[in-house]
Amino acid sequence: MSKFITFEGVDGAGKSTHLVWFADTLRQRGLDVVVTREPGGTQLGEQLRVILLSQPMCIGTEAMLMFAARLEHIEQVIKPALRAGKWVISDRFSDASFAYQGGGRGLDWDKLNQLEQWVHPDLQPDLTLFFDVPVEVARQRLAHNVSLDRFEQEQADFFERVRAGYHKRIRQNPQHYAVIDGAQPLEKVKQQLESIIASL
Ligand code: TMP
Repeated sequence: MSKFITFEGVDGAGKSTHLVWFADTLRQRGLDVVVTREPGGTQLGEQLRVILLSQPMCIGTEAMLMFAARLEHIEQVIKPALRAGKWVISDRFSDASFAYQGGGRGLDWDKLNQLEQWVHPDLQPDLTLFFDVPVEVARQRLAHNVSLDRFEQEQADFFERVRAGYHKRIRQNPQHYAVIDGAQPLEKVKQQLESIIASL
């Protein structure tokens, strides 16, 4: 049976590294896995990603472009793969819009609810893995990057609001999330991921 799983966390939480390992482990078990990301995942979505990560814009535009890229992603990639019985693992989905545009930028939560209702009224991830790390740990990890995008360049208080945005979203629907302490040693995170895979 197909499943839709999303990975979330503040920039520097380590989710993308863990996603690769998670997908490989599922494939070793014989599952057909599609790995994708947001913003992105389609030709148009990847073009929007370049703009979103580099071009300053007002908050509403940012939110609508995130959801525009998402609609293409859902229609072209996510739904067809799920219909074909595949597992879809997406590096970010709508929780990121609530956390970054809602929490980080301060966009009205209700506007985001409306966009979510419009773009995917009948689709939600089966499970969301949220990699939680203290903001200062995430910032130290980002400090090793040679170039930082428009979001990564934000200050610590922005990421504190993003993290709080994720926690708010989790409180609204806790059974939907697995919260993973991303500051743990890699081996401990892998053990936790293995037990999540076993439960799926
Ligand atoms: P990534 O670095 O995890 O690939 O994500 C790209 C950036 O886009 C990241 O800083 C978070 C941001 N983002 C939003 O602000 N809103 C969204 O809805 C999504 C999907 C990503």
